[in-house]
Amino acid sequence: MTSPLFRTKKVEQSILDTEEPEHALKKSLSALDLTVFGVGVIIGTGIFVLTGTVAKNNAGPAVALAFAAAGVVCALAALCYAEFASTVPVAGSAYTFSYASLGELPAWIIGWDLVLEFALGTAVVAVGWSGYIQSLMGNAGWEMPAVLGSREGADGFGFDILAAVLVLVLTGILVLGMKLSARVTSLVVAIKVTVVLVVIVAGAFFVTADNYDPFVPKAQPVEAGNNLDSPLIQLMFGWAPSNFGVMGIFTAASVVFFAFIGFDIVATAAEETKNPQRDMPRGILGSLLICTVLYVLVSIVVTGMQHYSRLSVDAPLADAFKATGHPWFAGFISFGAAVGLTTVCMILLLGQTRVFFAMSRDGLLPRFFSRVHPRFKTPHRPTILLGVVIAVLAGFTPLNELAALVNIGTLFAFVIVAVSVIILRRTRPDLHRSFRTPWVPFLPIVSVAASLWLMLNLPAETWVRFAVWMALGIVVYFVYSRSHSRLARGEETTAGDVMRPPGHDTR
Ligand code: ALA
Repeated sequence: MTSPLFRTKKVEQSILDTEEPEHALKKSLSALDLTVFGVGVIIGTGIFVLTGTVAKNNAGPAVALAFAAAGVVCALAALCYAEFASTVPVAGSAYTFSYASLGELPAWIIGWDLVLEFALGTAVVAVGWSGYIQSLMGNAGWEMPAVLGSREGADGFGFDILAAVLVLVLTGILVLGMKLSARVTSLVVAIKVTVVLVVIVAGAFFVTADNYDPFVPKAQPVEAGNNLDSPLIQLMFGWAPSNFGVMGIFTAASVVFFAFIGFDIVATAAEETKNPQRDMPRGILGSLLICTVLYVLVSIVVTGMQHYSRLSVDAPLADAFKATGHPWFAGFISFGAAVGLTTVCMILLLGQTRVFFAMSRDGLLPRFFSRVHPRFKTPHRPTILLGVVIAVLAGFTPLNELAALVNIGTLFAFVIVAVSVIILRRTRPDLHRSFRTPWVPFLPIVSVAASLWLMLNLPAETWVRFAVWMALGIVVYFVYSRSHSRLARGEETTAGDVMRPPGHDTR
């Protein structure tokens, strides 16, 4: 590949960049820290909110199988991520990995894609947070006016003010450069895991076997209407659009996949890990395993507590306890969920600034986006700009539509990372890899196929939105990034030339 579009940034240069004294990150994380960080960012709106929606609309009690299926897709991708993270231990995650293997244009595409993942992911989590705060308010007998409490008020217009305010407040915190200390993160993770365990253990006492009948509800045809709502795979093969049944499990898996997003963010902490070669794979796979087990158990319990058709879509875990006459448990769960979702939201917002940082370090995004605030030393301009956009999106857009778009973007990143593992093994066999993905190229190929399969189960309209976003990215690349790339200009990194990434201390 000699075309400038496929020029690659040397792995050694990526690592060297991080060793410049001006922008080196402290290497202090262990495998346990990474696992805690992983669980901290992974458990969120996916399990707390989407479980209810997909059980109700797509899978019934079989939503547990959907979680298991999505977990397998993620585990395959994680094995590829882990090889990359232990080989190229620098900030920027999939973006950096692909710059070292596939070349500049694919790397740009991935970076652009990750911006979508993190920005919209933030909005999804904010919407979930709003649902639980409202459930908590309901316990105290307060109710938000419909027009400010959801996307569909009395006359069809609504703006979820709580979700928007959360994003704006977190944006402000990031601009001021405040960080989550290791202690706060661990506390929040402990609260979140306790809540999940309470749901599993206490909820098990309120399960009614009848609610599992049928475990996999029969496929039901969808009323004729907007075909773009249907999974692309059903349209491609001309199948009559349907919900539930076996295909419903896969549709559900493509949505609850959101619940696993975050383990790829663990990979972004490679630069700050004491022994990335050993600890990174352990941290990623460990947190993924813990979450998969918890998700499957929670969904089995919740669909056993309340018939799937009656589950709430805003705060299903808490509301299932209300429905069984235990509002005290419901209050505790809503409180824990709200605390837990706040940090997930903040970490996703921060993830966004890191990708921007890595891309602007390479000159693919303008310096305007990375010039730091003179006092707070944070990239205030993009943070504020994107924070406002995300707040508006969180206020107006339905949760499922946002989640689907985040998922397609993330799955696409998985495809590229898996392909990159195969390519880098060929082009740079000499690189030291302390963690090697097993059965290459077989496993990465299966990972690509599994990710594509989930992508195909997402609605056709999600594909259209994703295509529009990516097309916009290609235009930006050719108009700006290609000529401003530091690699194109033959610039090597020199000390003082590159700023530190903002707010990198997230533990
Ligand atoms: N996995 C995270 C969540 O479910 C992003 O909220």
